[in-house]
Parts: sequence; structure tokens; C-alpha cells
Amino acid sequence: MCGIVGYIGHREAYPIVIKGLKRLEYRGYDSAGVMLYDGTDLKISKTKGKVSDLEARSQQEITTNGTIGMGHTRWATHGVPNDVNSHPHLSNSGNLAIIHNGIIENYEPLKKELIKRGYTFTSDTDTEVLVNLIEDVQKKDGLKLGKAVQVALNQVVGAYAICVFDKNKPDEIVVARLGSPLAIGVGESEYFIASDASPFIEYTSNAIYLEDEEMAIVRLHKPLKIRKIKDDSLVDPYVQELQMNLEQIEKGGYDHFMLKEIYEQPNVIKDTYRGRLHASTGLIQMAGVEDNLEKFLNADRILIIACGTSWHAGLVAEYIIEEFARIPVEVEYASEFRYRNPIITPKDVVIAISQSGETADTLAAIKLAKEKGAFVFGVCNVVGSSISRETNGGAYTHAGPEIGVASTKAFTTQITVLTMIALRLAKAKGTLSNSDYFRYLQELELIPEKVAEALHSNTISKEIAEIYKDASNCLYLGRGYNFPVALEGALKLKEISYIHAEGYPAAEMKHGPIALIDEKMPVVVIAPKQGHYDKIVSNIQEIKSRSGKIIAIVTKGDVQVKELADHVIEIPETSDALSPLITTIPLQLLSYHIAVLRGCNVDQPRNLAKSVTVE
Ligand code: M6R
Repeated sequence: MCGIVGYIGHREAYPIVIKGLKRLEYRGYDSAGVMLYDGTDLKISKTKGKVSDLEARSQQEITTNGTIGMGHTRWATHGVPNDVNSHPHLSNSGNLAIIHNGIIENYEPLKKELIKRGYTFTSDTDTEVLVNLIEDVQKKDGLKLGKAVQVALNQVVGAYAICVFDKNKPDEIVVARLGSPLAIGVGESEYFIASDASPFIEYTSNAIYLEDEEMAIVRLHKPLKIRKIKDDSLVDPYVQELQMNLEQIEKGGYDHFMLKEIYEQPNVIKDTYRGRLHASTGLIQMAGVEDNLEKFLNADRILIIACGTSWHAGLVAEYIIEEFARIPVEVEYASEFRYRNPIITPKDVVIAISQSGETADTLAAIKLAKEKGAFVFGVCNVVGSSISRETNGGAYTHAGPEIGVASTKAFTTQITVLTMIALRLAKAKGTLSNSDYFRYLQELELIPEKVAEALHSNTISKEIAEIYKDASNCLYLGRGYNFPVALEGALKLKEISYIHAEGYPAAEMKHGPIALIDEKMPVVVIAPKQGHYDKIVSNIQEIKSRSGKIIAIVTKGDVQVKELADHVIEIPETSDALSPLITTIPLQLLSYHIAVLRGCNVDQPRNLAKSVTVE
């Protein structure tokens, strides 16, 4: 879960690498490093801390000139975050430098073997083992860098996206991938290498995404050659035209990416259904669904696999698909599913949900489901990501780049896609009345407007945040479609403000959590008018009689809950099934403001990374 950047061409590499690393900090930010080659020597600077710390240090420590460079921003797996464990790592001779995103699982036996052969190690990392293994192969077998990397990688078990540079062959960088993403930007007499395309978007819109088990020698003034690591066969490079633009990956005047992404929701939800949802004619057209409609309609059940926020979107989908299309749905954490020998048959349809499309557990769960014969459908945001390629069919969410570690627009666009799938299946199966079907289509089309209205709760959310910013615990309660929203609200709060928070189905409170309630406990209750309103009013009364502090999310014009709650946040009315798209907005804003007021790093919370490419 690290970010890697490389450059080889005619420009100064340092500013490209540093700027690129800043854009990739969502992938990890506990330490960072840079390597430059100035035509005679290889210079390295690295440090614990963020890319800004690296920038300050490297400008003191090295001369930053050179047209070949590589950089790394780390999320520690092997070895604590410190200067020594930061990348790049050098081989014992000092000739080879490597940056690596991933984990070499068999690094210990390899390290022991290398120690026997006289190699020494300064860091605790698996990566330093890999660079010395490459050097050992190079020396032993007298191989050129590319071949040596290939031979070494065939001895390795694990995951990697790597860039390797040899100062004795300074016109090339060797790159390879297995399980971690790697994109190559193709410019005029220059190449860019990165974990995603954001570091090179202003230089070129042509990118090649390496597939698993592929490697390439990126050489100045030479066309790119891609090979299979295992059998050395050549692969035709497929150059993609990038859809992303620079504006999308910058903050655009907002203090944080998270806030920008919260505010983008009206537009990106529209982007998600644009061209797919035609409320006036009653059509839903999603190529991925149409191509595989029979698979869905003949499924014995739908199994949804995902992690984190995407798992919460899956829970919302469970309620919606069962209600609309009457197909049994089960939702599983990908991390549990992959290790528990699940019963899966070719009559199952698996939906894998992932913003990044790179989550290691989800990817492994997909592979397992495919091995067992299931049809796997992906709901991803990042175009061309590993999951989007690994699945048998799919639908993109079109939310645009999500940089803030806390998922916001990914969640609402995932729900939008999944709702459209449910409606399409319902139409085909005839499980919704015509009038209900048309009503939902029309309502879905109105969601962006309602989300925009819900964003007006920013001011009140900030005021409430002022009052509760020092809380140590917080409960989130919801029922039905809004139970997963309670889970999501709690996850948002804990991950960015470090306040302990739990989400529960409101009725479960009396089976345990009610014991926690006293005058110090803020309880966020999602209580829209539709759904189980009377039941939730009773739950609110139970909290009130135990002196809990109630923050209620209510439908505009609500009277009953207003009388009971300490604070209310009003949202526009929508049907129960679509309400998660609206109720989630004030919860995102509340977490955001609490985290800001507590002085937390909202976009890069401690210990986290945007894409979890390790299990
Ligand atoms: O990229 P994915 O959707 O597969 O990521 C899954 C989780 O890691 C992610 O949703 C995580 O829980 C977020 N930090 C939540 O805000």
C-alpha cells in the first residue's frame, strides 16, 4: 500500500517525482524517499514522515538535478516507519536502487540464503532482500538488469509493483507488477511510471497499465517492451487514453479533499446514472448488466463481497435487491470469505464492490469465487483497476478520483449503481409494480438535487461538531435501509477523528449497547419519516430516558423527533429505499467537522491508506 513514481526523459526528474508522490500520498504516508541520477552518480534521500518532510530534507541533503528519478511514499508492512526502512533501498554494491509497493512473503528464507552468501542488511524490509536478490542473480549469472529482475521475481512469492535502476545501465528503469498496480505514462521521448496515472496527468494522456506477472524495460528513446515474467513471452502494449484531468485531482478551493468530495456528490451521482437511467421512458441501460442479464436472472442468490465502506454499500444493496428484485442476497467481508471455504456454485452471482479496485482481500475473494465457477460482477470506481479487469463483467461508478482516505462519494455512487441494477432486475422479473418502478426511476433522477439540499446541513453539522468534538464515544443507530448508514457514519467518525464509534440497528440497542448510555454519550439516530419511523421514535425515547444526547437526522418538517432530540439535522424527503443516499450526507459532514476541530489530518488519517493492497 505504497505509492511509487518514476521518470526517465529530458526534464528534471525531481519536481515530477515529488509532485507525483504528493498525489499518491493517499496510498501511504508514513515515510518517503527519492532517488536521482545526474549522469554520473546516484543520489538518495529518504525520511520518516510525509512527502513535504522529504522535500525539505532532500533539498538540504542532495543536489536535486538529474533526468532520471524514482520516488516512494510508504505505508509500512515490514519494519517500523523510520528513515532506514524508507525506500528506495540500495543493493550491497550500491549499484542498484529499488522502490516497491507490495509484500515479498518469502523474504525470510531468501534473506537467510543471501546472508549465507555474504550479503548484509541495514533495514528490516522485505524490499531490501529483493534488491539484493536481483544483484545476486546479476552477479552469479552475469545477467543484464532486466533478465536479473525476471529471474529474481520468479523466486519470489508475494505482491509487487517495482522500479529498479542500475547505475551501470543508466538509460533504463526496469518495472514489474504482480498484485499491485503500475501505470506507465508514454510521452514524447519520456516515460513516467506510477501507481496510478495521477502523477503524470499533466504531461501525457497515454498510459499503459501493466497486467499481473508482466514486466517492462523502460528505456530512453526506445519503444516499450512488455514481457511475461514467467515465460518471457512478449505482450503487445495496449495504450489507453486517460479520462482523468488535472482539476479532478486537485482540491479546487476546498480545505480538504474529503470536503471537496462530499460536495461533489450531486454531480457525481448524476455522472453515475447519466446515459444509463432514462426515467421518462422507464429504461435502465447498463451494458455490463444487459450483457449478463440471464446470469443475474437465473441466479440462486447474489453474494456481495467488499471491505469497509464498500461493504456498507453492499449491505444497503442487500436490502434494495431483495426488496425490488426478490433475489436472495448475502453480504460478506471479502477478508472472511476468502479464508473460510465458502459454498459457492455456478448458480451464484457474486458482486464485488471496490472504490479503488485494488483491495487485496476483495481481489483474492474474486479469484476464489471464479475458481468455484461463480460469475463475478464488479462495481468499481477506478477505471482499468485490477478488480475491474479480474471480474467477468461490471459497471463503473464514475465518481472521479477519490483522494480523501475516508470514502464519501464512492459510497453514494456505489449505492446508485447497485440501485439501478436492482431496478433493472426488478423490471425483468416483474417484481415491482409498474407504478413503483417508474416512481423509483423518477426519484433516483431527483437524488442529486436532494443531496445538494442535504449539503445545506453543513452549518448545523459544524455547530453540533463544536459541542461534541471532545466526546470519547459515540453511537449511531438506524433501522432498515439506514442500518448500514449507521455503520458507515460510525466508520467515518472513527477513521478520521479517532473517536470510538459504533453503529447498530436501533432495535439491537436494548440487547446490550443501551448499557453504555448516560449523559455523556452522544447518540446519532437516523430517523427519516419513511421507514420504521414509529419504532425509531420509541428508540429515541429509550435513549432520552437514560439521559443520552440525541442528534437526530430527520425529514424536513418533522415535529415528533424534534421535541425529543437535543439536535436535529433536516434532510429532504425521499422514499425509504433511496434514503441512504441522503441520510449519509450530514453524517459525512459531522465527522468531517469533528475531525477538523480536533486538529486531525482529515485526508490522511493515521495508520490508514486509501487502497489496502495488503491483506
Ligand atoms: O477501495 P475499496 O472500496 O475496496 O476500499 C475498501 C476499504 O478499504 C475502504 O472503504 C475504507 O474502509 C475507507 N477508508 C472507508 O472510508
